[in-house]
Amino acid sequence: MDLTGKHFLKLLDYTPEEIAYLVDLAATLKAKKKAGETVDVLRGKNVALIFEKTSTRTRCSFETAAHDLGMGTTYLDPKSSQIGKKESIADTARVLGRIYEGIEYRGFGQEIVEELAKYAGVPVWNGLTNEFHPTQMLADLLTIKEKLGGFKGVRLVYMGDARYNMGNSWMVTCAKMGMHFTACAPKAYFPDPELVAKCEAIAKTTGATITLTDDPIAGTTDQDVVYTDVWVSMGEPEAVWDERIRDLSPYQVNKAVMKRAGKNAIFMHCLPAFHDLNTEIGKEIHEKYGISEMEVSHEVFESAASVVFDEAENRMHTIKAVMAATLGAKL
Ligand code: CP
Ligand code: NVA
Repeated sequence: MDLTGKHFLKLLDYTPEEIAYLVDLAATLKAKKKAGETVDVLRGKNVALIFEKTSTRTRCSFETAAHDLGMGTTYLDPKSSQIGKKESIADTARVLGRIYEGIEYRGFGQEIVEELAKYAGVPVWNGLTNEFHPTQMLADLLTIKEKLGGFKGVRLVYMGDARYNMGNSWMVTCAKMGMHFTACAPKAYFPDPELVAKCEAIAKTTGATITLTDDPIAGTTDQDVVYTDVWVSMGEPEAVWDERIRDLSPYQVNKAVMKRAGKNAIFMHCLPAFHDLNTEIGKEIHEKYGISEMEVSHEVFESAASVVFDEAENRMHTIKAVMAATLGAKL
């Protein structure tokens, strides 16, 4: 498998075999890291990390993975570059493409990262857009493989805002990998019909199924993976909290949901998560609405079924695999 020079913008652009290859490469890199083996085969190269939205996991993973591979990094934070304000995406892409061997972009519309890729002349990696979060998908696939042994036939329910980056990404990923996807959300939060149709066509070729339901009982019965995400995503206005708490509270992942899913079901979340009052926003919401946990109960978050920190660790190994593969590392 040779992915040298390929962008990593969304999993729709990748075949199931390529996705499986990246997950396996990540597992190999993880084993090497645990064994203390160095993999600094990309010495002398440098990557630019553009973050127009904040991050803990993605930034730390890109930096650590790049350093492990022997590369230098430049972090461009949401405020301190010219991007978008004084310089167009096309011009930024051509500048950074002359200086760096690869560019990561986290920000707003998918069209921005696609534009960056069009002009950069070097691989561009999507570190999250409003529409997709593909590096998160690889980390979660690695985690599912570690915990459940594989992908084919695995039943995954996504609870919450299924129209946004995580819901979209899971529908695509399940379709590609032959998994059974359920979006469990109010009808107004179902994914875009055009993307659903695309995924249904892919599903026909892989044995996957796509189900959209607003019934939290039917949607969560007999599932292998229960997945959720924050009810309000980065970049959305504060004013939407009212409607999200009203609409999505029936879709909270709690003990009853996990019980219905089955005794071997695992709980997954891309993080950060609102499961207690130890965050500023968590406290503000508690004062205003009286609730102390949101998309997931503290009990489930801390339970044995929860694999959220495995996912977080796997962000690093999978991002390393993406950079290694697309920059043509000889490992
Ligand atoms: N899951 C994830 O992308 O986390 P960060 O926002 O911290 O990067
Ligand atoms: N949907 C969330 C994902 C965070 C990793 C957001 O976009 O903020």
